[in-house]
Amino acid sequence: MSMVNAFSREDFERLDETERALIARREKVLGPAYRLFYEKPLHLVRGEGVFLYDSAGEKYLDAYNNVASLGHCHPRVVEAITKQTAILNTHTRYLHESIVEYAETLTATFPNTLSQVMFTCTGSEANDLAYRIARFVTGGTGIIATELAYHGLTSAVAEFSPSLGESVTLGPHVRTVPAPDSYRHSSEEMMEKFGRDVRAAIADLKRHGIKPAMLITDTIFSSDGIFAEPKGFLKPAVDAIHEAGGLFIADEVQPGFGRTGETMWGFERHGVAPDMVTIGKPMGNGYPMAGIVLRPDVIAEFGPRARYFNTFGGNPVAAAAGKAVLDSIRIEGLQQNALEVGDYLMDGLRSLSHPAIGDVRGSGLFIGVEIVGDVTKRPDPALTTRIVNGLRDRRILISASGPHANVLKIRPPLIFSRENATMLVDELTVLMKTICSEANRLGK
Ligand SMILES: Cc1ncc(COP(=O)(O)O)c(C=O)c1O
Repeated sequence: MSMVNAFSREDFERLDETERALIARREKVLGPAYRLFYEKPLHLVRGEGVFLYDSAGEKYLDAYNNVASLGHCHPRVVEAITKQTAILNTHTRYLHESIVEYAETLTATFPNTLSQVMFTCTGSEANDLAYRIARFVTGGTGIIATELAYHGLTSAVAEFSPSLGESVTLGPHVRTVPAPDSYRHSSEEMMEKFGRDVRAAIADLKRHGIKPAMLITDTIFSSDGIFAEPKGFLKPAVDAIHEAGGLFIADEVQPGFGRTGETMWGFERHGVAPDMVTIGKPMGNGYPMAGIVLRPDVIAEFGPRARYFNTFGGNPVAAAAGKAVLDSIRIEGLQQNALEVGDYLMDGLRSLSHPAIGDVRGSGLFIGVEIVGDVTKRPDPALTTRIVNGLRDRRILISASGPHANVLKIRPPLIFSRENATMLVDELTVLMKTICSEANRLGK
């Protein structure tokens, strides 16, 4: 399985000389594992707010970046990082006010039971640590994840990240379940199906002599195709893993920090109580930060036995960046903005009423648009690729997701305005008309 929206070497000759030269140098020194986005890769040199600028000075509306969630180069975060870098940057083995203050502010955004936090630098490390803790607490090793989940890159986590593709082997202790597909199942089925599938996976683990340790889901199913509704569909699955003695890990690396609009954390929309929550990406608005927020009893025995140290995780600069992010979300009302502009954008996308747009779904500023070939809901990945690259040519950046690579993934910074949303919808409208008239001309 190739990466969705990846640059293909087949398009190399179509690029101009400067791009070809940079790609060749990059391949020579970075090796073969890296991928680039888009048929015509972007060479970005600057970002400001919702806009990115390429090496030719062209301006792009960024409707995809969820790391620079407050907008690129947010002044409050830049200032916080700059100031603290000039004063002190050590680690968590020295006393420092700011990490404690940041941890207090962060945990206050969670339900009361989730009152402790451990800092890492990446979401992968957070999920790796969550799995170590889950194994310790439950005495099991079994993991249940969704069919196209991505949770990270360490050896342990890659084994439960099926979206890495067929050549990255899943662990023998891993079972995958289909993500709950709200486009192809009714709300009633959705409320019941995911729980049933997780129960079946638990039974299968047990049958193979494997004790379940955890169920882990991205609570908006970003790489599985973006599924947000109906609220509550996660609950039966969480109940199932708890009944089996396992833990529920909510991976909030993508939906967290207010993006889904209604709530600060995606799991809250489903009314479930995770044992651990992993966070990352937008946590430092570009400064590498991640972590696990958990119930004290989950770590009570592991902590004293397995000391925890992460050289860079939770350093004073990270604490300053993280605090500036939380302050900005609050001061600028970004969660509310995500809700309002997200609804406005979804309404705009629905109003396109184009036959290829099968479904518009999501929550806040995490939106999926399913592109289909006909009324049978047949996925149309080729058209999806044309739309993603067509928008890129029109200076709007989005990507795609889902098992058939046919879901437009729209995930702009939380400062996205109605004007930005209108621009996206207008450009998509023109693009769809162009694609249609071309198809008519070719008699397709
Ligand atoms: C849902 C989810 N979890 C975990 C990760 C891993 O985070 P990182 O790339 O910071 O290791 C990602 C990264 O894309 C992710 O999307």
